[in-house]
Amino acid sequence: MTQDELKKAVGWSALQYVKPGMVVGVGTGSTAAHFIDALGSIKQQIVGAVSSSDASSAKLQALGIPLLDLNNIDVLDIYVDGADEINAHMQMIKGGGAALTREKIIAAVARKFICIVDASKQVDVLGNFPLPVEVIPMARSFVARELVKLGGAPEYRQGVLTDNGNIILDVRNLRIIDAIALEDKINSLPGVVTVGLFARRGANVALIGTAEGVKIIE
Ligand code: A5P
Repeated sequence: MTQDELKKAVGWSALQYVKPGMVVGVGTGSTAAHFIDALGSIKQQIVGAVSSSDASSAKLQALGIPLLDLNNIDVLDIYVDGADEINAHMQMIKGGGAALTREKIIAAVARKFICIVDASKQVDVLGNFPLPVEVIPMARSFVARELVKLGGAPEYRQGVLTDNGNIILDVRNLRIIDAIALEDKINSLPGVVTVGLFARRGANVALIGTAEGVKIIE
Protein backbone atom coordinates (compact mmCIF):
# COMPACT_ATOMS: atom_id res chain seq x y z
CA MET A 1 0.00 0.00 0.00
CA THR A 2 1.21 3.52 -0.72
CA GLN A 3 1.52 6.11 2.04
CA ASP A 4 -1.50 7.92 0.64
CA GLU A 5 -3.58 4.73 0.73
CA LEU A 6 -2.67 4.30 4.40
CA LYS A 7 -3.66 7.93 5.06
CA LYS A 8 -6.96 7.35 3.27
CA ALA A 9 -7.66 4.22 5.30
CA VAL A 10 -7.22 6.05 8.63
CA GLY A 11 -9.12 9.09 7.39
CA TRP A 12 -12.16 6.97 6.59
CA SER A 13 -11.74 4.83 9.69
CA ALA A 14 -12.14 7.95 11.86
CA LEU A 15 -15.80 8.09 10.75
CA GLN A 16 -16.55 5.46 13.42
CA TYR A 17 -16.14 8.25 16.03
CA VAL A 18 -18.60 10.61 14.34
CA LYS A 19 -22.11 10.31 15.77
CA PRO A 20 -25.36 11.81 14.46
CA GLY A 21 -25.94 15.42 15.52
CA MET A 22 -22.28 16.13 16.28
CA VAL A 23 -20.20 19.18 15.54
CA VAL A 24 -16.84 17.84 14.36
CA GLY A 25 -13.45 19.50 14.77
CA VAL A 26 -11.45 19.08 11.58
CA GLY A 27 -7.67 19.27 11.17
CA THR A 28 -5.41 20.14 8.27
CA GLY A 29 -3.13 18.24 5.91
CA SER A 30 -3.26 15.36 3.47
CA THR A 31 -4.58 12.84 6.02
CA ALA A 32 -7.21 15.24 7.36
CA ALA A 33 -8.24 15.84 3.73
CA HIS A 34 -9.22 12.17 3.44
CA PHE A 35 -11.23 12.51 6.65
CA ILE A 36 -13.03 15.53 5.17
CA ASP A 37 -13.94 13.44 2.10
CA ALA A 38 -15.29 10.76 4.44
CA LEU A 39 -17.24 13.35 6.42
CA GLY A 40 -18.80 14.55 3.16
CA SER A 41 -20.34 11.11 2.72
CA ILE A 42 -22.35 11.49 5.96
CA LYS A 43 -22.86 15.24 5.95
CA GLN A 44 -26.63 14.99 6.44
CA GLN A 45 -26.06 13.34 9.82
CA ILE A 46 -23.86 16.04 11.39
CA VAL A 47 -24.54 19.62 12.44
CA GLY A 48 -21.34 20.86 10.86
CA ALA A 49 -17.60 21.29 11.33
CA VAL A 50 -15.15 23.62 13.00
CA SER A 51 -12.11 24.04 10.78
CA SER A 52 -8.43 24.52 11.64
CA SER A 53 -7.32 26.27 8.44
CA ASP A 54 -8.45 28.19 5.39
CA ALA A 55 -7.50 25.17 3.27
CA SER A 56 -9.69 22.78 5.24
CA SER A 57 -12.52 25.34 5.32
CA ALA A 58 -12.43 25.56 1.52
CA LYS A 59 -12.61 21.79 1.21
CA LEU A 60 -15.43 21.49 3.74
CA GLN A 61 -17.38 24.20 1.94
CA ALA A 62 -16.84 22.59 -1.44
CA LEU A 63 -18.40 19.41 -0.05
CA GLY A 64 -21.37 21.33 1.37
CA ILE A 65 -20.48 20.70 5.02
CA PRO A 66 -21.65 23.65 7.17
CA LEU A 67 -18.78 25.61 8.78
CA LEU A 68 -19.28 26.74 12.35
CA ASP A 69 -17.52 29.41 14.39
CA LEU A 70 -15.70 27.94 17.39
CA ASN A 71 -16.88 30.89 19.49
CA ASN A 72 -20.45 29.67 19.14
CA ILE A 73 -19.70 26.11 20.21
CA ASP A 74 -19.97 25.09 23.87
CA VAL A 75 -19.20 21.44 23.45
CA LEU A 76 -16.99 19.86 20.82
CA ASP A 77 -16.99 16.10 21.12
CA ILE A 78 -14.15 15.22 18.78
CA TYR A 79 -11.25 16.73 16.90
CA VAL A 80 -9.74 14.66 14.09
CA ASP A 81 -6.33 15.55 12.71
CA GLY A 82 -3.05 14.15 11.42
CA ALA A 83 0.41 14.62 12.90
CA ASP A 84 3.99 14.78 11.74
CA GLU A 85 5.20 12.54 14.58
CA ILE A 86 3.52 10.71 17.46
CA ASN A 87 5.18 8.88 20.34
CA ALA A 88 3.99 6.15 22.70
CA HIS A 89 2.69 8.77 25.17
CA MET A 90 0.37 10.12 22.43
CA GLN A 91 2.41 13.34 22.30
CA MET A 92 2.81 14.82 18.83
CA ILE A 93 4.71 17.18 16.62
CA LYS A 94 2.32 19.06 14.35
CA GLY A 95 2.47 22.08 12.07
CA GLY A 96 4.12 20.70 8.96
CA GLY A 97 1.25 22.37 7.13
CA ALA A 98 1.64 25.61 9.16
CA ALA A 99 -1.84 25.31 10.70
CA LEU A 100 -0.64 24.55 14.23
CA THR A 101 -2.22 27.49 16.07
CA ARG A 102 -5.81 26.90 15.05
CA GLU A 103 -5.21 23.16 15.42
CA LYS A 104 -4.07 23.63 19.00
CA ILE A 105 -7.02 25.86 19.86
CA ILE A 106 -9.58 23.37 18.55
CA ALA A 107 -7.73 20.46 20.18
CA ALA A 108 -7.95 22.32 23.50
CA VAL A 109 -11.71 22.66 23.20
CA ALA A 110 -12.41 19.10 22.06
CA ARG A 111 -13.24 16.34 24.50
CA LYS A 112 -11.44 13.74 22.39
CA PHE A 113 -8.47 14.21 20.02
CA ILE A 114 -8.37 11.47 17.40
CA CYS A 115 -5.01 11.39 15.67
CA ILE A 116 -4.95 9.82 12.21
CA VAL A 117 -1.54 8.85 10.85
CA ASP A 118 0.22 6.32 8.67
CA ALA A 119 2.69 4.13 10.51
CA SER A 120 5.71 6.16 9.35
CA LYS A 121 4.69 8.90 11.83
CA GLN A 122 5.20 6.68 14.90
CA VAL A 123 8.47 7.43 16.70
CA ASP A 124 10.21 6.48 19.93
CA VAL A 125 11.54 10.01 20.50
CA LEU A 126 10.04 13.18 19.03
CA GLY A 127 12.29 15.59 17.17
CA ASN A 128 13.47 13.98 13.97
CA PHE A 129 10.79 15.99 12.18
CA PRO A 130 11.73 19.70 12.48
CA LEU A 131 9.59 21.28 15.19
CA PRO A 132 7.41 24.10 13.74
CA VAL A 133 7.08 27.27 15.81
CA GLU A 134 4.68 30.05 14.73
CA VAL A 135 6.19 33.45 15.51
CA ILE A 136 5.08 37.10 15.24
CA PRO A 137 7.18 38.41 12.29
CA MET A 138 9.06 41.12 14.26
CA ALA A 139 10.23 38.54 16.82
CA ARG A 140 11.74 36.17 14.25
CA SER A 141 15.44 36.79 14.98
CA PHE A 142 15.00 37.05 18.75
CA VAL A 143 13.04 33.80 18.96
CA ALA A 144 15.54 32.08 16.65
CA ARG A 145 18.42 33.06 18.99
CA GLU A 146 16.49 31.75 22.00
CA LEU A 147 15.77 28.47 20.21
CA VAL A 148 19.50 28.06 19.56
CA LYS A 149 20.08 28.46 23.32
CA LEU A 150 17.67 25.54 23.81
CA GLY A 151 19.88 23.41 21.57
CA GLY A 152 17.86 23.69 18.38
CA ALA A 153 18.78 24.77 14.87
CA PRO A 154 15.91 27.00 13.69
CA GLU A 155 15.30 27.60 10.03
CA TYR A 156 12.97 30.28 8.65
CA ARG A 157 10.31 28.63 6.43
CA GLN A 158 10.77 30.86 3.39
CA GLY A 159 7.73 32.21 1.62
CA VAL A 160 5.22 30.92 4.16
CA LEU A 161 2.79 33.11 6.07
CA THR A 162 0.32 31.35 8.35
CA ASP A 163 -3.44 31.91 8.18
CA ASN A 164 -2.84 34.30 11.12
CA GLY A 165 -0.23 36.36 9.25
CA ASN A 166 2.78 35.01 11.12
CA ILE A 167 5.98 33.20 10.13
CA ILE A 168 7.19 29.68 10.90
CA LEU A 169 10.58 28.64 12.28
CA ASP A 170 11.33 24.93 11.81
CA VAL A 171 13.65 23.71 14.55
CA ARG A 172 16.02 20.86 13.74
CA ASN A 173 18.45 18.98 15.98
CA LEU A 174 16.03 18.34 18.82
CA ARG A 175 15.78 15.05 20.66
CA ILE A 176 12.70 15.71 22.75
CA ILE A 177 12.73 13.63 25.91
CA ASP A 178 10.57 15.89 28.10
CA ALA A 179 8.02 17.19 25.62
CA ILE A 180 5.85 18.98 28.20
CA ALA A 181 8.82 20.93 29.60
CA LEU A 182 9.98 21.95 26.12
CA GLU A 183 6.45 22.95 25.10
CA ASP A 184 6.23 25.19 28.18
CA LYS A 185 9.67 26.72 27.61
CA ILE A 186 9.08 27.60 23.96
CA ASN A 187 5.56 28.85 24.71
CA SER A 188 6.99 31.30 27.24
CA LEU A 189 9.25 33.08 24.73
CA PRO A 190 7.88 36.52 23.84
CA GLY A 191 6.84 36.54 20.20
CA VAL A 192 5.99 32.85 20.04
CA VAL A 193 2.37 32.31 19.08
CA THR A 194 2.33 28.52 19.17
CA VAL A 195 4.83 25.69 19.31
CA GLY A 196 3.93 22.58 17.34
CA LEU A 197 4.46 20.28 20.31
CA PHE A 198 1.15 18.79 21.37
CA ALA A 199 2.26 17.27 24.67
CA ARG A 200 0.14 18.96 27.36
CA ARG A 201 -2.85 18.16 25.20
CA GLY A 202 -1.93 14.97 23.39
CA ALA A 203 -4.16 12.57 21.50
CA ASN A 204 -6.76 10.38 23.21
CA VAL A 205 -7.00 7.95 20.32
CA ALA A 206 -4.50 7.17 17.57
CA LEU A 207 -5.55 5.44 14.37
CA ILE A 208 -2.42 4.06 12.74
CA GLY A 209 -2.49 3.03 9.09
CA THR A 210 -0.43 -0.12 8.53
CA ALA A 211 -0.19 -2.60 5.68
CA GLU A 212 -2.11 -5.05 7.90
CA GLY A 213 -4.96 -2.61 8.52
CA VAL A 214 -5.83 0.27 10.85
CA LYS A 215 -4.49 -0.15 14.39
CA ILE A 216 -6.41 1.62 17.15
CA ILE A 217 -4.51 2.87 20.19
CA GLU A 218 -6.64 4.26 23.05
C1 A5P B 1 -0.78 20.76 9.66
O1 A5P B 1 -0.31 21.96 10.14
C2 A5P B 1 -0.17 19.62 10.41
O2 A5P B 1 -0.25 19.68 11.79
C3 A5P B 1 -0.64 18.27 9.90
O3 A5P B 1 -1.55 17.68 10.76
C4 A5P B 1 0.56 17.41 9.81
O4 A5P B 1 1.55 18.14 9.12
C5 A5P B 1 0.28 16.10 9.10
O5 A5P B 1 0.08 16.33 7.74
P1 A5P B 1 -0.16 15.15 6.71
O6 A5P B 1 -1.44 14.51 7.10
O7 A5P B 1 -0.26 15.86 5.39
O8 A5P B 1 1.01 14.23 6.78
